[in-house]
Amino acid sequence: MKHLIAISAALTIIFPGVLHSEDAAKPLPKLELDLTKPGAKVSPMLYGLMTEEINHSYDGGIYAELIQNRIFKDDPKAPAHWSVVQHGDSSAAITLDDSEPINAVLKTCLKLDAKAEAGVANDGFWGISVKPDTTYRASFYAKSNGALSPLTVSIESNDGAKIFAKAQTQNITSEWQRYEITLTTGKDAQPSANNRFVITTSGAGTYWFNLVSLFPPTFNNRSNGNRVDIMQLLADMKPKFLRLPGGNFLEGDWFHSRFDWKKTLGPLEQRPGHPGCWGYRASDGMGLLEFLEWCEDLKMEPLLAVFAGYTLKGDYVSRGPLLQPFVDEALEEIEYVIGDTSTKWGAQRAKDGHPAPFKLTYVEIGNEDGFDESGSYEGRFVQFYDAIKAKYPQLQLISTIGGRDTLGRKFAMKERTPDAIDEHYYRNAWAFEEDAMHYDDYDRKGPKIFVGEWASHETSFPPWDQRSKVLAPTPNMLAALGDAAWMTGMERNSDIVVMNCSAPLFVNVNHGAYQWRPNLIGYDALNSYGSPSYYAQVMFGQYLGDTIVPIAAQNVPTQPQEKPGLKEVPSLFFVATRADTSGTIFLKIVNTAPVAQPVQVELKGAKQVAREGTTIALSAAKLEDTNSIQEPTKIVPVKSKANDFARTFTHTLAPYSINVLQISAK
Ligand code: AHR
Repeated sequence: MKHLIAISAALTIIFPGVLHSEDAAKPLPKLELDLTKPGAKVSPMLYGLMTEEINHSYDGGIYAELIQNRIFKDDPKAPAHWSVVQHGDSSAAITLDDSEPINAVLKTCLKLDAKAEAGVANDGFWGISVKPDTTYRASFYAKSNGALSPLTVSIESNDGAKIFAKAQTQNITSEWQRYEITLTTGKDAQPSANNRFVITTSGAGTYWFNLVSLFPPTFNNRSNGNRVDIMQLLADMKPKFLRLPGGNFLEGDWFHSRFDWKKTLGPLEQRPGHPGCWGYRASDGMGLLEFLEWCEDLKMEPLLAVFAGYTLKGDYVSRGPLLQPFVDEALEEIEYVIGDTSTKWGAQRAKDGHPAPFKLTYVEIGNEDGFDESGSYEGRFVQFYDAIKAKYPQLQLISTIGGRDTLGRKFAMKERTPDAIDEHYYRNAWAFEEDAMHYDDYDRKGPKIFVGEWASHETSFPPWDQRSKVLAPTPNMLAALGDAAWMTGMERNSDIVVMNCSAPLFVNVNHGAYQWRPNLIGYDALNSYGSPSYYAQVMFGQYLGDTIVPIAAQNVPTQPQEKPGLKEVPSLFFVATRADTSGTIFLKIVNTAPVAQPVQVELKGAKQVAREGTTIALSAAKLEDTNSIQEPTKIVPVKSKANDFARTFTHTLAPYSINVLQISAK
């Protein structure tokens, strides 16, 4: 794999702005694809998704629930996101009430004291989406000591002026009872998000409510399912796996707020939710089974990360008997995923509605344990590794440390050799371009590499810096070019980089909803969009062969990096793969220069090359150009027919562009 790319030693240094495609004096950049010497196989799991509860990724994100704070635990002092709707001069008040528990989980409820007809309203996750001709499923627990008459349930504009859908329950009683009702909007309803969900009484009395839920139609019509638009964006990426449930969300700030998967199973009535690590509570409506069904819906494998005895605030349990309960918990979790129904946890999965086991190849032990300054990870890893391998020898186990860090230092796990190592890279775009050859000379004898989190940002400060919060939630074209340059390196080396997924995946773009930027996919209550980086990943995931094609490159111009002190880097990045059965070649070329670049392509060893082919290009006039919730498709891939492919041909790349050339060759 070493020197798969040979960039000419006699590089011409050409600076942005003075690189002219018409400059005949300069030899064209040339890419020679050697079809006579097929390279390594492309990893079948190369592109996947990373998920975690950050930026309202689940609650207020892909998880389709529209009610925020449905079990009133978000704020112990006040009914956050709930308000009273007064009718006329009537007076009414809402409070949290712990004196009427439904069960051990649904302890706190919402109490409405009404002197006359009144309502309780929820403002949703920065609004409630209304779409025309759409049926919503509302459900809630209620009881009353007042009039035992029906409640009216509605979706209406925030000022109450427009009622989009309305229905009545049967008479409520003085005992807790669950009510379920459908609400259908009219064909003429204008799509909007400035709306609220309201439950209105028909008279005076005291009323109690709990587990108030409202779902729009979901992907594959799953109850407790996912948003259709966001799932479709993911489906278009053709992901092969989902790394779940995090990230930091796996670890939690403390032991009690880790992702405690057993508390995320079964009916919503049994799910207490837990404090997340990004400043808001997780409802855990997106529980372990929902993650697995998300995988099933998109035909991808779960990549299960198990809690490994270390939390974000630095608490940890060293190797030994105190760690064993967490090891046992991980074994049970794996059994929940892959055990048949004769096992305890396989039977639980069947009881929860999914008798068939899921496919599972990779289990990751912990998350970013390099931050554990106690140095306890190796011991913890050994204890998990031995127990999991003893019971499930077929599983591939991923360590969160080892390998080579960003400074090029090597860390070895001495006691056990992990099957793969999870490396994370959050860098600015020009650093990714500079290091796009990172894996070209990587040690092939050690564990495989899983790049479990990576993403380009456009700033000199990192994504978690406070200054990020005032910037756009999703990245611009500069970042997409950095991402694409980095992906050429991972794809070219996918014999060793067997999987990768960028992070974070999601962001709710409303002010106050996000803690991190940039993120791949943005949304509000109503709409969603992909960033240029998202489209770069769609292109890389969709156009992928089975075998890597070696490329020798000549005359590739370089350009100085924008960040002072960094070296000059090539202005073109590339990788080619070939489909084994059809022979189709997917040549990806990233042009990071501000000018068009003609590139000569030679297909060495091709007997026949079809003139007609396809090109897919993502480009922007300026590096700052981007997509947003207001302009969701400003930058999208454009597919065109090519009719000039041959054994040797010249193709001109647009300035600032990411390109796929799909070539039929024998
Ligand atoms: O993706 C955001 C966070 O970055 C992840 O939760 C964590 O693993 C990493 O530090």
